[in-house]
Amino acid sequence: MAKKPWGGRFSEETDKLVEEFTASVHYDKRLALYDIRGSIAHARMLGKTGIIPKEDAEKIISGLKEIEKEIKEGRFKWRKDLEDVHMNIEAALYEKVGPVAGKLHTARSRNDQVATDVRLFLRDVIDETLRRLKELRKALVVKAKENLEVILPGFTHLQHAQPVLLAHHFMAYYEMFTRDARRFEFVREETNICPLGSAALAGTPFPVDREMVAKELGFKGVTRNSMDAVSDRDFIVSFLAAASLVFVHLSRLSEELILWISPEFGFIDLPDKLCTGSSIMPQKKNPDVAELIRGKTGRIFGNLFTLLTVLKGLPMTYNRDLQEDKEPLFDTIDTLLPSLTLARELIAGLKVNQERMRKACEQGHLTATDLADYLVTKGLPFREAHHIVGRLVAYCEEKGLKLWELPIEKLKEFSTLIEEDVYEWLTLEGSVARRKVVGGTAPEQVKKAISQAEKELEA
Ligand code: ARG
Repeated sequence: MAKKPWGGRFSEETDKLVEEFTASVHYDKRLALYDIRGSIAHARMLGKTGIIPKEDAEKIISGLKEIEKEIKEGRFKWRKDLEDVHMNIEAALYEKVGPVAGKLHTARSRNDQVATDVRLFLRDVIDETLRRLKELRKALVVKAKENLEVILPGFTHLQHAQPVLLAHHFMAYYEMFTRDARRFEFVREETNICPLGSAALAGTPFPVDREMVAKELGFKGVTRNSMDAVSDRDFIVSFLAAASLVFVHLSRLSEELILWISPEFGFIDLPDKLCTGSSIMPQKKNPDVAELIRGKTGRIFGNLFTLLTVLKGLPMTYNRDLQEDKEPLFDTIDTLLPSLTLARELIAGLKVNQERMRKACEQGHLTATDLADYLVTKGLPFREAHHIVGRLVAYCEEKGLKLWELPIEKLKEFSTLIEEDVYEWLTLEGSVARRKVVGGTAPEQVKKAISQAEKELEA
């Protein structure tokens, strides 16, 4: 009978299906190096405080280091009958250093151990997420800077609304991903505290030095309540929620790229290396990467809901349900990181078709608001001005004309307040340039936003 580390009170072998069903090692071995780091810190503290003899602690640490090496070199044999990453490593330690291995688990439980492992692991993942977010934000700023002259229709309801700078459009996404970065910084704070010392749920009677362990592991502090500490997975929810918002933004961006590369828009082209073809239609070049980012948003939201649902009915404290936190977390990470990098590639690689954007601006009377504003400067209340321009637009639609093509006599028929100076209000450049308000699309404001962003990215 395969001996379980917890087998003392059991008189029959574990059912094979139960073994299979409860095992997590096939995925939680991903935490192995963090598990070892946590164990080394714990063992060192046990030796330092005299809870176990120093020599024993040293033996344990050197055994753990050997195991670490085996894992790194891919030589370690993972056993499913040993359930999870923690017990696999502990069993291997027995083989290396003998019964002294049994002292490692003094003043510790897998409950505070696994919570520690995931926090250590996630802290690194968050740092990587922040790096990749930064690369994406940089690419957006570079594209904005390259396209300071380009004007395109700004949309509301996917209808032409008012002209905007393409740079302003890119900088809108910069704002979204910058908020995301701040959110991950907050999640990092929430993650960066050490549960060790909480043991199974109630704390430990041994005189452990929690601060010492936390410090060695780079944690900012220790958790404050042992019961909460072993059952808290809020920091993972926070990560999954922050990732979900990233995907709201990535998916919106993808949607626009997909629209913009369609022949109906023709606003951009994407590099061949980021597109794929059709197995039947030889002419096709499809934006599959953007589509998949948009599509993978489903699993990212799903993972958040998976964990929220796992957590919602749990009585205090640790319950085995909590093992279900890892697969959604890993899946989100494995989806998020490449998506961020590919989104960066899409932005960096896209080619702008300035003429098409310009041409699109001729449709939809983009400067109608400017004409209404013009009438306001001549003393008319905005609502009245709105009405007059509305009638003018209807007239243009009927005749197939643009506002700026109407001769001054015709314009005067609609309002005697209109004079020759109106035409400069009807140009795209004029419209954009007048929106000098903070946060507006005027070139001077957009340039300010860009240099502000460049400063933020340097920090
Ligand atoms: N594999 C478990 C998990 O991920 C580790 C903790 C198990 N603790 C226990 N008492 N069964 O949650």
